[in-house]
Amino acid sequence: MKEYSIIVVGATGAVGQEMVRLLELRNFPVKDLHLLASERSVERVIKYKDVSIPVEDLQNFNISNSLADLALFSAGAMISQEYAPKFVREGIYVIDNSSSWRMDPQVPLVVSEVNPHTLHSGSHLIANPNCSTIQMVVVLKPLHRSAKIKRIIVSTYQSVSGAGMKAMEDLRIQSEAYLLGRPIPEGKKFLYPIAFNCIPQIDIFLDNAYTKEEMKMVNETKKILEDETIRISATCIRVPVFRCHSESVYIETEKKLTPGDAREILSKAPGVEVLDDPVKQKYPLPRDAEEKYATYVGRIRQDLSSDNGLCMWIVSDNLWKGAALNAVQIAELLVEKRILTP
Ligand code: A2P
Repeated sequence: MKEYSIIVVGATGAVGQEMVRLLELRNFPVKDLHLLASERSVERVIKYKDVSIPVEDLQNFNISNSLADLALFSAGAMISQEYAPKFVREGIYVIDNSSSWRMDPQVPLVVSEVNPHTLHSGSHLIANPNCSTIQMVVVLKPLHRSAKIKRIIVSTYQSVSGAGMKAMEDLRIQSEAYLLGRPIPEGKKFLYPIAFNCIPQIDIFLDNAYTKEEMKMVNETKKILEDETIRISATCIRVPVFRCHSESVYIETEKKLTPGDAREILSKAPGVEVLDDPVKQKYPLPRDAEEKYATYVGRIRQDLSSDNGLCMWIVSDNLWKGAALNAVQIAELLVEKRILTP
């Protein structure tokens, strides 16, 4: 079997560590693995298949000597903007988890179950979409195919891991302080305390009064579903959950779909699991979606305010399907399509 030389950039981060785990869990054909982070992490080692791999400093890493085939980037937009083009110039395929190139028309923005056909050998740079967008389009694509979605209104309940390791630490420390009756320490990542709170701002505000995260959902969804006519409005909220994002989604379709039709379509959809039994009080929960490959959908019901409207609740592991898993699945597609050659 062909094996590939892989680099993970940001390997010590919340997503980077999951990329390393998933390469192992999914048995990706790895020949050798370089794990890169900042100089702060050079003393660290990360386990891959029982081997302790030392973390290397990205800044001093010799890209041309690495002879790597593929790099998975998750070290933030600034690092991607500076380093991804350098990797691409060396003929290395880059799957980038940042928002840097997602809306570049030349760069495929890929969700493995939704638009794998957009991958092609001409583009060495491939963008991994925003976490909230990924889980929404995995569920909406099959409904769009059969009934054409005209409008989407989504509210997200996003876990702190989406903001990285420091954000997870903030939630832990602040929760502990709150429960012990101590003053809540200031967080490193959020403007307001996140413990026992909800923050209706993810990323910066733009001129239209929406946040950058909300507009990522709007623009990326249109690009991935290859339909500029869909009208979308998003509200993104950070909630005190460690892992997994939840979303309340309303869709309006051209052709009427009953909740039963939607359940039937989604029960056959790749990457989707329907968990929808109000009688037994069964619905997706973020705690249950941790470390699962699937995106879960439930609470599928007729919207009471429109004729062709459906409401639903979508939950997925933001570190896995929303980031590291989708990136590894893109890598698997590159192998399957013989785009990646060692
Ligand atoms: P480090 O741990 O050395 O700071 P998270 O999203 O969880 O905050 O993780 C961000 C990832 O990006 C970490 O692996 C972090 O490494 C890495 N990173 C941040 N700044 C740099 C940098 N200047 N050079 C290389 N990697 C970086």
